[in-house]
Amino acid sequence: MNINGLRPRTGNGRKIYIETYGCQMNVGDTEIVVSLMQDEGYIYTENIAEADIILVNTCSVRDNAEQRIRGRLQEFRQYKKRKNDLLVGVIGCMAERLKEQLLEQEQIVDIVAGPDAYRDLPNLVRTAAAGGHGINVQLSREETYAEISPVRLDKSGVSAFIAIMRGCNNMCAYCVVPYTRGVERSRDPQTILREAHELFEAGYKEITLLGQNVNSYQWKEPDGSIIDFPELLKRVAEISPRLRVRFATSHPKDLSDKLLEVMAATPNLCRSIHLPAQSGSTRMLALMNRKYTREWYLERIAAIRRMLPDCAITTDLIAGFCSETEEDHEATLSLMREVGYDFAYMFKYSVRPNTKAARTMEDDVPEEVKTTRLQQIIELQNELSLTSNRRDIGKRFEVLVEGSSKRSEEQLFGRTSQNKVVIFDRGNYRPGDYVTVEITDCSSATLIGRPVTA
Ligand code: SAH
Ligand code: SF4
Ligand code: F3S
Repeated sequence: MNINGLRPRTGNGRKIYIETYGCQMNVGDTEIVVSLMQDEGYIYTENIAEADIILVNTCSVRDNAEQRIRGRLQEFRQYKKRKNDLLVGVIGCMAERLKEQLLEQEQIVDIVAGPDAYRDLPNLVRTAAAGGHGINVQLSREETYAEISPVRLDKSGVSAFIAIMRGCNNMCAYCVVPYTRGVERSRDPQTILREAHELFEAGYKEITLLGQNVNSYQWKEPDGSIIDFPELLKRVAEISPRLRVRFATSHPKDLSDKLLEVMAATPNLCRSIHLPAQSGSTRMLALMNRKYTREWYLERIAAIRRMLPDCAITTDLIAGFCSETEEDHEATLSLMREVGYDFAYMFKYSVRPNTKAARTMEDDVPEEVKTTRLQQIIELQNELSLTSNRRDIGKRFEVLVEGSSKRSEEQLFGRTSQNKVVIFDRGNYRPGDYVTVEITDCSSATLIGRPVTA
């Protein structure tokens, strides 16, 4: 199949527009939703003004994510005024968290569909079109949308996501995801491999396997044998040495030596591990129900350094979780220094209704303190990212080109195996090419280089 077979269909029909918020899982789900709606005759559009249905694929992970989406919903009123029969649907995590409350709170909403209810969307649309409210927020123990070929909406045609599992069983005390995404379930590996093959044949060069906790991927074959995450990763990487394979996210408690061994033996498994620490304080980690200590986390980092010396390590951190003291906060800063993260996503703690933390702990770190601590974390990470990038100056990397640089059409951007962005002069290179680049300069966010003929 060439890439056109994976792209949205064109032609006549009712038009569907989708806006996506939140994590990469949502990006992947939107592509599934477009596929399901196309099968019903809908045509995907990027032009909101011509839409017959507007869907918003939502995120509940922090309060500001939800507030932003609520604001956006209000902006849709103008389109409803212009087109009487326009339908607005909220899908994804906010739909699951708020259920019918959303219909009352946001009068503009006609359809509410949770992450496991997308097969029902055509039906919900019919109900809404007949003047009712289409709502389905049923979570499932089995749904993985396994056999559905997502319609590819990325611009580059170089890098794509494949969801390999859904849900989360970890119950971190602060986190809403287990409530919005339901229990963990793994997808049939045959369907994952088929999708990966299809992408490679269509010209894609990089695949990211997605799940809330990919390390606990597990599939039982009819003969009783088990395919675990390292095994799955190996099989996807075997499709071609010219196919880069990434994955996210790994929970530190499940990062096994077996996984690191498979990575070390397989050069096209990218040298980059996202290992969210959340905090550097063992006391905080226990309150957060992360199921590891600072020492245990650092031992996993040592294992990565030992087995994959050139591997980038990135993380997520939360500032100001319940009862966090200055000492706990200092422990996070010292963990960051000790690991020397290449990159981090950093957040202020935001209470999520009905989570364990919301029910049993007090959100007692004042807002100003959270802000100061987050600021310190961000400043330190900027230094660490700069140090990490400076270390790359003078080195050569194989860069997979993704597209034109944001600043100039004369330059391309791509990524190293370590997932760092590199900018260099276009020359005759094109997206999808592998180019050997020598790094000549950097900022804390990007590497700058020049192609070399190896
Ligand atoms: N499954 C992934 C991450 C899911 S959410 C994992 O476990 O790593 C992405 C990140 O959002 C989390 O890693 C955490 O750092 C942050 N996060 C989750 N809930 C939050 C909350 N209530 N307040 C602030 N940040 C939160
Ligand atoms: Fe949330 Fe924890 Fe699951 Fe990640 S592992 S999605 S932080 S509950
Ligand atoms: Fe947000 Fe749901 Fe992802 S809450 S981070 S969109 S799983």
